Amino acid sequence: MKIPIFTPKRQYKKLKKEIDKAIFSVLESGIFILGNQVKSFEKEIAKYLGVKFAIGVSSGTAALFISLKSFQLTRDDLVITTPFTFFATAEEIINAGATPIFADIEDEHFSLSPEKVEDILKKYRDKVKVVLPVHLFGKCANMDAFMYLSNKYNVKIIEDAAQIIGSVCKVGNKYRKGGTIGDFGAFSFFPTKNLGAYGDGGLIVTNDERLFEIANMIRSHGSKKRYYHEMIGTNSRLDEIQAAVLRVKLKYLEEFNTKRQKIAKYYNENIRKLKLPIKTPEIPEDGSHIFHQYVIRVEERDRLSEFLTSHGVGNAIYYPVPLHFQKALSYLGYKVGDFPVTEKVAKEVIALPIFPELEREELDYIIEILDKFYKG
Ligand SMILES: Cc1ncc(COP(=O)(O)O)c(C=O)c1O
Repeated sequence: MKIPIFTPKRQYKKLKKEIDKAIFSVLESGIFILGNQVKSFEKEIAKYLGVKFAIGVSSGTAALFISLKSFQLTRDDLVITTPFTFFATAEEIINAGATPIFADIEDEHFSLSPEKVEDILKKYRDKVKVVLPVHLFGKCANMDAFMYLSNKYNVKIIEDAAQIIGSVCKVGNKYRKGGTIGDFGAFSFFPTKNLGAYGDGGLIVTNDERLFEIANMIRSHGSKKRYYHEMIGTNSRLDEIQAAVLRVKLKYLEEFNTKRQKIAKYYNENIRKLKLPIKTPEIPEDGSHIFHQYVIRVEERDRLSEFLTSHGVGNAIYYPVPLHFQKALSYLGYKVGDFPVTEKVAKEVIALPIFPELEREELDYIIEILDKFYKG
């Protein structure tokens, strides 16, 4: 059997009629940039997420860049984030003109540790302007704690929501969709994401009208009115074809996320039964994990990865090199041992196939191969 870590083909087959119709309607309209598809998508997704403003942009990276840029940061301004994330999180802090500073993660769910963040806030009180937690693998970061720190230290919160669309995170005694809690949420519609486009795409959300206006201008060359530029911006718009695709897929997002949660539960129950030395992810009852990735932890990670590959089971390491070890960021001056939890986790994690169309027989085969690896 050959099982990919992810494939968009099965979903396309299922939604082909609707998707084809949506794409052809854009081709026939002759309008490709900021037309009715983007406008409607922004309205529909804002309603779905329960947020006042949504801005369609060209990628998750652009969503991070514009959110950060909206605060007009300088090189002396620090943005606290995690070293255990995709490169774009830190990259865009630098592209937006500020300086990233890392805090370690929590061992249990891989996201930024509020305690470690507070240590930095105490040390660099006046320099830190933004805290940027990442909701990794589809699980809510501790937003309760970050909102508390935001009030206490007067810092802005940007959520890297690239992997969290559709989850509900607990804040106080309320449940809110991940990405809608801080000052900005930055989503990605990269094709592998839970809501994936057929190309690049992203979204910025906020409940703050002033921030919305600034971010909206930055998306289109710093202008509200064509050829009148109030600030330096960029060209970073979601296009009409991607918006049309996303409008179709948004209708199925809840169903897709529920399927992912069921797959994760099936993996967990059956892997645990085998009593293998595998740490499976906890599945919260409250919907706060939408399993963008199903990530297990094992000691012999690289050997297991090779074994799975040789038996046709797709797998991936997110992320093999923590950001403080990336060559491009070496100028920040971090060294081995600075973030021990991140460094340990990066050696142990391995993602198994998870997407809504994964079949029961495929899951059984993957679990059988895991068993075979340990029991021979
Ligand atoms: C955590 C995280 N941040 C940012 C991004 C960047 O998103 P995009 O690939 O849409 O630019 C991604 C996606 O790859 C991501 O996983």
